[in-house]
Order: sequence, then C-alpha cells, then structure tokens
Amino acid sequence: MQIITEPGQMQTIAEKLRLSRQCIGVVMTMGALHEGHLSLIKLAQQTAGTIILTIFVNPSQFGLNEDLHLYPRPFEKDVALAKAAGVDFLFAPDTESVYPQHYQTTVTCSEVTKMYEGEKRPDHFKGVATIVTKLFNITKPHIAVFGEKDAQQLAVIRRVVEDLNMDIKVIAAPIVREKSGLAVSSRNIYLSIEERDAATILYKGICHAENRVAGHEHNLQTIAEEIEGMINAIPGCRSDYVGFVDEVTFEPAETAESGKEYRLLLAMYSGAVRLIDNVMICA
Ligand code: PAF
Repeated sequence: MQIITEPGQMQTIAEKLRLSRQCIGVVMTMGALHEGHLSLIKLAQQTAGTIILTIFVNPSQFGLNEDLHLYPRPFEKDVALAKAAGVDFLFAPDTESVYPQHYQTTVTCSEVTKMYEGEKRPDHFKGVATIVTKLFNITKPHIAVFGEKDAQQLAVIRRVVEDLNMDIKVIAAPIVREKSGLAVSSRNIYLSIEERDAATILYKGICHAENRVAGHEHNLQTIAEEIEGMINAIPGCRSDYVGFVDEVTFEPAETAESGKEYRLLLAMYSGAVRLIDNVMICA
C-alpha cells in the first residue's frame, strides 16, 4: 500500500491507473477506521480492481461548537487496518494542501440539505459536498462507496454527482451494527458504558417503527412522535429529531402510501454524544 499526501501526486497516479484501464474505487473517510469502514472497502473491492482510501478530517464540515479538535486521529492504527484490508493507495493530505491560502470555492446543494442534519448543522453539507467533489477530482474514481449510516449525506452526494454530471457510480453500503443494534460509528468511543447502553434506544426506535408500519399504521408523524417519546423517557437521552422522508426524493413524509419506500431518520444525544441512525421502511 502506497501512502500519498500530495493532491497533485495522487492525481498523477489516478490518471495513470485510468490510462492503464484500471477500475478505481474510492472510499472516503475521516479516519478512526472501524468495522463500518472496512465493510465499505470490501464492497468497493467487489467492483474495483484498485482501491484508494482517503483519510482527511475535513474542517469545513464541522460547526464552531463541534468536535473537530477532539476528533480521533489514530493514523498508525488506520494505516495498519487499511493495509490489512488490501487498500492499494492511502491518500492522507494535510489541511493546507486541501485548503491552501486564498481558497474560496464551495459546492452547495439546496433542497436535500434543508432539514434534519442540514438544519441542525448549518454548513455541514456544504463542507461535505465540497470535500467530496475535491476528492473525486483528485482520485478520479469510477465507483465510490459511501455508508448508508449517513443517509442524508448519501442523498446529498448522489444529488451532487447527478447534478454536476460526474461519471461516477455511487454505491451504498449497509449499516454495520453492534450486537446491541447500535450502529458502528467513530463517535461511539466517546460513550461511557452507561451512555452506550442508553443509546440502544435508537435501534429500539427503529424496530418500533418497523413493527408499527408492518401493523398498517400509516401516520408516520404519529410513529415519529412515539419514538421521540421513547428516547426522551430514557435518563440521559434526548431526541434531536425523528422524521420520515420519501426514499427517492428525500422530502419529508407524514403519511405512508402502501408499497412506497420511506426512510426513517433519527438523531439523539446520549449524554453529550450526538448519534444518528436510519432505516428504510416499505409501507
Ligand atoms: O462520512 C464521512 O466520513 C465524511 O463526511 C466524508 C464523506 C469522508 C467527507 O469528509
């Protein structure tokens, strides 16, 4: 595995790979690799012959009061995990080479970023859309794998790729869960044992929604309110949002039509740790 830190060098390598007709797959991460990331790499390897893994803690997607400086950066451990997973190139640039002095261009995506994470974390998706576009231009992939765990991020990236005519196939990887149902996330390391236990209410909420829809409850607003109640009833837990969107348009949905697919989006705090989760539900 080759480690590259310069965007220009990564572009030259990617161009050569393309000229030698290699199928390039990219997996973008902010490091602190876990089982979820490894599943993205595995999925990319099913389609692409050359895998580029990017590790970059992108400052432009963090809000002022968020955890940019605390964000875990276990680089040596990440290198070992990437190597063992069969990654071909690890692209790990520093902030100055990605956002040099006088940098001023951003990518924004309107409707799909208005609610949920977009509403709670202003400018977050502008930072994501910008860095993902830059990393696409640097790594020149044919395919890119992103986790369904960040469902709204995935919807934003799909929109950017389609709207900007990028010739890249975006592949969604299923959420990896712990035995308790808790979705695997780099931020889970911030949870104390008690908070981790309490956080399993998020998955219980998902199961509740699946059961209610299976039992023909079509009022999605009612189900969302029930889940908020379940979360807020657990000591130390606080719901941030619970809502359903149309799986295709990502527009908020209040009533389910039989046969249609919806995505339940959830965010909550367990102690001070903010967690998100989601599931696709067919009515
Ligand atoms: O999902 C993430 O880890 C980040 O948002 C991404 C896609 C790597 C962009 O910084």
